[in-house]
Amino acid sequence: MKGPAARAVDGGWDALKIGVYGGTFNPIHLGHIEAARRAVETLGLEKLLLIPAGLPPHKELAPDTPGPNHRLEMTRLGLEAMELPCEGEVLDLELKREGRSYTLDTLRELKKRFPHDRIYLLMGTDMFLTFQDWRGPDKIVKLCALCAFSREAEGMERLWEQRLRLERELGAEAVVLELPRVVEISSTQLREALAAGGGEARKYLAPAVYGYILRNGLYETKADMKNLSLEDLRCVAMTMLKHSRIPHVLGTEETAAALARRWGAGEDAARRAALLHDCTKRLDREQHLELCRLYSVPLDREERREEKLLHAITGAAVAREEFGMPPEIVSAIRWHTTGKADMSLLEKIIYLADYIEPTRDFCDLRELRKLAFEDLDRAMLLGFTMAVQDLKKKGVVVHSNSVRARDYLKGKLT
Ligand SMILES: [Fe+2]
Ligand SMILES: [Fe+2]
Repeated sequence: MKGPAARAVDGGWDALKIGVYGGTFNPIHLGHIEAARRAVETLGLEKLLLIPAGLPPHKELAPDTPGPNHRLEMTRLGLEAMELPCEGEVLDLELKREGRSYTLDTLRELKKRFPHDRIYLLMGTDMFLTFQDWRGPDKIVKLCALCAFSREAEGMERLWEQRLRLERELGAEAVVLELPRVVEISSTQLREALAAGGGEARKYLAPAVYGYILRNGLYETKADMKNLSLEDLRCVAMTMLKHSRIPHVLGTEETAAALARRWGAGEDAARRAALLHDCTKRLDREQHLELCRLYSVPLDREERREEKLLHAITGAAVAREEFGMPPEIVSAIRWHTTGKADMSLLEKIIYLADYIEPTRDFCDLRELRKLAFEDLDRAMLLGFTMAVQDLKKKGVVVHSNSVRARDYLKGKLT
């Protein structure tokens, strides 16, 4: 991707290609995600701006439309799910603006922010075919190029005709992109599927967007957070993680499931504990302390001092209080960082799965990965020994529970 330093070309400016994709995103679904990805690839966009509309000019928002903050957050999660090869940003400028959201106003604002760059306005077939009815189409085409998505091969002719008309009548520059149909239902049907429950809507949404909808009870979903299916819990857990942490948590889930099968523990419990083990990891110290106050969780001096230990404690509290997890899962989350003496089977499985899951590469884990499936206690001893050595090397104070856990196993195994 080009940075500012790369943009001066022959004494002039090599403009960035910026895609602007607006919509009600009510909610953002796989169709939007695929369209945006395709536009980035085909047009070689270097930046994509997603702009949820406040009040669209051409239609009323459905009565069950979530508030602006929810739509903004869902769009942000949708953007993360796109995993674009370029920079992406969600802008709230239309959500903040009073009255209806006119694209012309938005483009004028964007032109001030990106005066030298080349803007492509991305839109679906219906919007493209009615472009002349928008506010100020002649002014819009002076600010940007148009890019229309078509999802029907048979509709391409109408789009080509419209493209020629806009070129001829307005001097517009327009591109037409053919997309495979990704989402077979309309947004209205999708909202109905969400309200009906049963998980049908899940296949049309990015997991984190679906999880966000469930967790916040949007679109009349009435999911009981204390009785989620494993699939729904996985989606909800993703909304609580930084996007970059998701592969680690999914890797921990699969490793925990494999260890549970190997050692005769409950696979469902292992998966649930793994999915929630880092569910408060993105919080800051103040937020951890707030959760401890909320759920009356006592902290000792060591725990209060070491921020890294707090997420195991608050994660366990959230698993119990918000998700109704049973004590065996709660305690597996509680002890996944420090460990303790005399751990249960599930506690050992989560401790090791977190350590050896496939995305971990901070040290040589070959021996530990092998041992975890051959001799669980010896693997735990090796894990604690390696963890204690690693912390000492980094100058981090080792929690007394980890030392006790290691010494307990040493005694047991000799
Ligand atoms: Fe953790
Ligand atoms: Fe972890």
